Amino acid sequence: MSLHERPAAAPVGEAIAHESAALHVTGHALYTDDLGVRLQNLLHAWPVGSPHAHARVTGLDMGAALAVPGVVRVLTAADVPGVNDAGVKGDEPLFPTEAMYHGHPVAWVLADSEDAARLGAAAVQVTYEPLPSVITVREAIAQDAFQGAQSTLARGDVTVGFEQAAHVFTGEFDIGGQEHFYLETNAALAHVDEAGQVFIQSSTQHPTETQEITAHVLGLPSSAVTVQCLRMGGGFGGKEMQPHGYAAVAALGATLTGRPVRLRLNRTLDMTQTGKRHPFHAAWKAGFDADGRFTALEVTLTSDGGWSLDLSEPVMARALCHLDNAYFIPHVHARGRIARTNKTSQTAFRGFGGPQGMLVTEDILGRVAPLLGLDAHELRARNFYRPGEATPYGQPVRHAERMHDLWAQLLTRSDFRERQAEVAAFNAAHPHRKRGLSVTPVKFGISFNFTAYNQAGALVHVYKDGSVLINHGGTEMGQGLHTKMMQVAATALGVPLSSVRLAPTRTDKVPNTSATAASSGADLNGGAVKDACDQIRANLAAVAAGTLGVHPDDVRFEAGRVFPLGHPERGLDWKALVHDAYHLRTQLWAAGFYRTPGLHWDRVAMQGEPFKYFSYGASVTEVEVDGFTGAYRVRRADLLHDVGDSLSPLIDLGQVEGGYVQGLGWLTLEELRWDESDGPNRGRLQTQSASTYKLPSFSELPGQFNVGLLERATETGVVYGSKAVGEPPLMLAISAREALREACAAFGPPGRTTPLNSPATPEAVYWALDAARAARPQEVPGD
Ligand code: MTE
Ligand code: MOS
Repeated sequence: MSLHERPAAAPVGEAIAHESAALHVTGHALYTDDLGVRLQNLLHAWPVGSPHAHARVTGLDMGAALAVPGVVRVLTAADVPGVNDAGVKGDEPLFPTEAMYHGHPVAWVLADSEDAARLGAAAVQVTYEPLPSVITVREAIAQDAFQGAQSTLARGDVTVGFEQAAHVFTGEFDIGGQEHFYLETNAALAHVDEAGQVFIQSSTQHPTETQEITAHVLGLPSSAVTVQCLRMGGGFGGKEMQPHGYAAVAALGATLTGRPVRLRLNRTLDMTQTGKRHPFHAAWKAGFDADGRFTALEVTLTSDGGWSLDLSEPVMARALCHLDNAYFIPHVHARGRIARTNKTSQTAFRGFGGPQGMLVTEDILGRVAPLLGLDAHELRARNFYRPGEATPYGQPVRHAERMHDLWAQLLTRSDFRERQAEVAAFNAAHPHRKRGLSVTPVKFGISFNFTAYNQAGALVHVYKDGSVLINHGGTEMGQGLHTKMMQVAATALGVPLSSVRLAPTRTDKVPNTSATAASSGADLNGGAVKDACDQIRANLAAVAAGTLGVHPDDVRFEAGRVFPLGHPERGLDWKALVHDAYHLRTQLWAAGFYRTPGLHWDRVAMQGEPFKYFSYGASVTEVEVDGFTGAYRVRRADLLHDVGDSLSPLIDLGQVEGGYVQGLGWLTLEELRWDESDGPNRGRLQTQSASTYKLPSFSELPGQFNVGLLERATETGVVYGSKAVGEPPLMLAISAREALREACAAFGPPGRTTPLNSPATPEAVYWALDAARAARPQEVPGD
């Protein structure tokens, strides 16, 4: 069988609950920090954070801290036996001599209790020499403060494209950042065994990198450090790079004191210290022909990378590779550069720059449609990729027809045209309340742009009693990867799901893993788990063939029975076969490996085929806006998303719903505010808790929420015909923002462009609708 084919009665494709759902909702699921209470002699770590956005550390006196009862030690740069750096770019000192943002930890205090550690941290005397700071992207642009490589993605010749254009528009656009707000904040727990082996439990999406960075901080080989991730209470990209330094601090503390060390950020610390979604600034020029088709697009994207590079370069690469979204743009010239500011080091966040890139083009289309005299949905559909066309980076858009089919299906399912008329009638009848209805597409490339990351490993054991234990390199952050991997193993071995257990992710079981990221966890680890299971099954088929008197190729494995093709009644029991196979000295465990075939990417030229395939989706959102306050609600959302043949439909539905709501948060509610004044708190994050940072919750859910998965969507070349699902649905929320724009526009005369800030908070919506309203010719009283 090839990778995408599935047997008839298979555990993959069954709509089952998340493997830990019952534990999650009853509070029994354990997270990294829950494991600390089981250890004796536990030490607690607390940071000494900089009160300046940018300052040189000129002195560090810990005398008073060490006098605080319970304080055991203060960790500083002098304690680091290896490399004093927590990143992969060499620009993230773990114990810095220059504080680069407000709250930057310059030392860590270890104590017998968290309270003591906190008091100790407050007692450390640090002297600072404040330095000038850069807080906003616009300040960074003005001061030419950039970091890392600048990249250009180009196709054709935009000069020619603009000459061919009947209409040319220019504009600027600022896109806000986003706090991950995973429920579980960053946490690490480290201890050292009698042989000096360092064991770290970490809330990390990338255990291998946590291992490597801890090893280099400690000056140890990777083999001396083991990292385990039981599960995370959400990662969303925020635990791809950020956990490494915390793990290293805990491990350093454990090696120096011989006691286990626990480090857990509280919410304020997590929000103050850890990187977020990159804010972006875009300056653009777009050309369209007389029919509204793109002729050219010229863009400069500037992301706010914060104080260090972290993942800013690959995030920018993905932003550039998603500017096109679902649209063919013949001539493109797009530049990307990363500002360096004195803020948290911005990092991966669901979509990894893709959402920002797509939003730029969707914003352009939403802004110019009225100026082109077209409905925005018509303008969008006219520009869709057609089969045979390629992206600006040279990758053919395989299955471009799916976008057209999906769009048509969604317009029908959501009664789009009828509801357009209803919305128009409502708006005509209501001067102070307006509705907006919008539809937007999603096309998202699946695979890591960095080709080497597209590999995975697994270790599958069949024990003598027939029970199965799987390990794989991916981490579980609520997205249901473990559930899917159990379904894959049960399908590949032909056993019931109840025979399969899954062990926590550990670097000593499966080494050299990639981050669980880029939505590719199930594709990659699924390929590896299936490979391991296939090897075990081949060994067992050889044994069964002898017993059953058939060729090994004709042995079938299904639901715990093993039988000759066409003769289920002549079957053997799986357990009996495993027992026999053991006595015949057959290997009953295997290591599996998968590498995504067919990828290549030239990072400098920004050309190649970095993605295995594209994930497609579309959404229709209807909103209602109040003209007095700008307050709004989402009345209804209809989503249709392509997950191939779903590995686990309930999980995938959850991912699509959750992605949309998280996107809604980013685009409409969540607003990070930093102190941009010249006062003493310059650079401080002002929205550092749930009381000042507004997240979407039940009350923001669409009144009606219809979510569908595209049918007959088998993806050949991917495990059991499925497609990745984790990130792409976030961008379905763009239709909500566009619907808000439509509603704002309805307060004014037709044919006007309606700029809208992002996030489109009620305040931003108010100013947009107020501008529209001001453009309406005033009625003469008494008329
Ligand atoms: N879903 C939940 N519940 N929690 C998460 O942290 N992270 C998202 C997405 N869905 C996340 C989630 C992100 S950023 C990615 S890259 C994918 O899940 C990662 O998992 P996958 O590769 O297994 O899809
Ligand atoms: Mo997801 S942003 O790739 O962890």
